Amino acid sequence: MRITKPILAACLTVLSACGGESRPTDRESLVVPGELLSSAAARQRGSELFARHCALCHGERADGQGVRRNLSARAVDFTDPYWRDSVTPRDVYLVIRDGKRGTPMPAWRILTPEQTWDLTAFVLGVSADPP
Ligand code: HEC
Repeated sequence: MRITKPILAACLTVLSACGGESRPTDRESLVVPGELLSSAAARQRGSELFARHCALCHGERADGQGVRRNLSARAVDFTDPYWRDSVTPRDVYLVIRDGKRGTPMPAWRILTPEQTWDLTAFVLGVSADPP
């Protein structure tokens, strides 16, 4: 494990550098850190980032009931197990990183790949373990 983490970080850094600022991250070559996704520490870091950046729209309890209600599309309710089953970790990572065009969901380029995976771990864990 001591080797895997830095290599993974290096791969992600190279990937985001190659992708350029405006191009979406390359879907196929994205390496999903499976172990991190089930880590309690990653979810905890993700929940702190979520409170800071995402709760405004997605709600403090991640249930889609944020204080911003006048959006042109409903913010996703992450407590819904049907939502959880409809996505892959890769989908979630890329939506956070690249945003969702034509909807109020912004691209989070200010977050590092590590932070983005922490958030992915958090939102995917919400339906089983609500905040
Ligand atoms: C300005 C409001 C807003 C903020 C802030 C915001 N979101 Fe969203 N998000 C949305 C909306 C609205 C949608 C639904 C888009 C649609 O119609 O498909 C969405 C969709 C998503 C989806 C896609 C779900 C799916 O199945 O397509 C994910 C994942 C997500 N948001 C995560 C986050 C995370 C993580 C953050 C914080 C880093 C965040 N969002 C911040 C408004 C927001």
